[in-house]
Amino acid sequence: MDQLKQVKDAVKFLNKKTKNFKPEILLITGSGMAGSIPELENKIVIPYSTIPHFLHSTIPGHPGNLIFGTYKGKNIVVLHGRFHFYEGYDMKDLALSIRTAAFLGAKTILVSAAVGSLNTKLPVGSLCVLKDHVNLMMHNPLIGNYDPAFGKRFIDLTDTYDKNLRKATLQIARKLKIKAGEGVYAAVTGPNFETPSEIRMFKILKADVIGMSTVPEVLCARQLGMKICGLTWVVNMGCGISKKPITHEETIKETKKIEGSFKRVLERLIPLC
Ligand code: HPA
Repeated sequence: MDQLKQVKDAVKFLNKKTKNFKPEILLITGSGMAGSIPELENKIVIPYSTIPHFLHSTIPGHPGNLIFGTYKGKNIVVLHGRFHFYEGYDMKDLALSIRTAAFLGAKTILVSAAVGSLNTKLPVGSLCVLKDHVNLMMHNPLIGNYDPAFGKRFIDLTDTYDKNLRKATLQIARKLKIKAGEGVYAAVTGPNFETPSEIRMFKILKADVIGMSTVPEVLCARQLGMKICGLTWVVNMGCGISKKPITHEETIKETKKIEGSFKRVLERLIPLC
C-alpha cells in the first residue's frame, strides 16, 4: 500500500480518537527518556499497536505510545518510543509516524536522542544541540517512498536545524546551568558501537556526536517543511576516547541522569516553538 494511503488511514483513526486534536509540535523522545516529557494537560495516550499501519517498538526502554496533550497553551504530540533501523524496520516504516504527525498539523519537530561524544568539550551529561548532520547510515527513508503530498523529492539541507530554536535552546541551557554546545551528528545504523578506528575517522569528518537514530526522522520532517530542533544528550564518550568499554546498560543509566535536565529544557523551549 502506498504511504499516503497509510498516513490518511492513521490520521482518520487518530482524529476520531482525539476529537480532531491538532498538534503544533511533534516531540520524539530518545532511549530511556520517558521522564523528560513535561506534564501535559488533557492527555490522551494511544498505543501504536492500535493505530492502523503503525509498528511496535521491540527494545526495552522504548514504550510505544502516541501521547497527545497541551503544555503552556501549545498542542503537542509525543512519539513516546521510536523505531530504529537496527531493529530491522524498513526506512519507509520510520517515515510513517513523522508524516502522520505532520498531516495531523505538526509544524515543528523536537527530536531527541542519546549519543556518544567525539568532542571532549561535550562530556557525558552535556546537551549537544544539533547544527548539522552527516548521514553515514547509507540508507534514506525518502527513497522510493514518494508522493508530492509529502513535499519535494529533491530537498535542500541548508540550515536544516532551525537557527532560532538552536539559539533559544542554548540560552535556556545556559540559564539552567546545563553544560551545552552545538555540534554535528554522525548517523550510523548500529546496533554495534563503533571501533576506535571508526571513531577516529568520524572525528576527521568533524562530527561531534554519534548515534543510531534522528537523521531518518529529520529527513522526513525536512521534506514536509517542518521546523527542526535536534536535542541530543551525551551518555558516553566514543569508543577509544574513554578507555572504558561501552554498554547499553551504562548508556541507559546515564540517560536516566539527564531526564530531569531535559524536562526543564523542554518546559522552557516548548512555549517558544
Ligand atoms: N555510538 C553510537 N550510538 C550511540 C552511542 C555511541 O557511542 N551512544 C549512544 N548512542
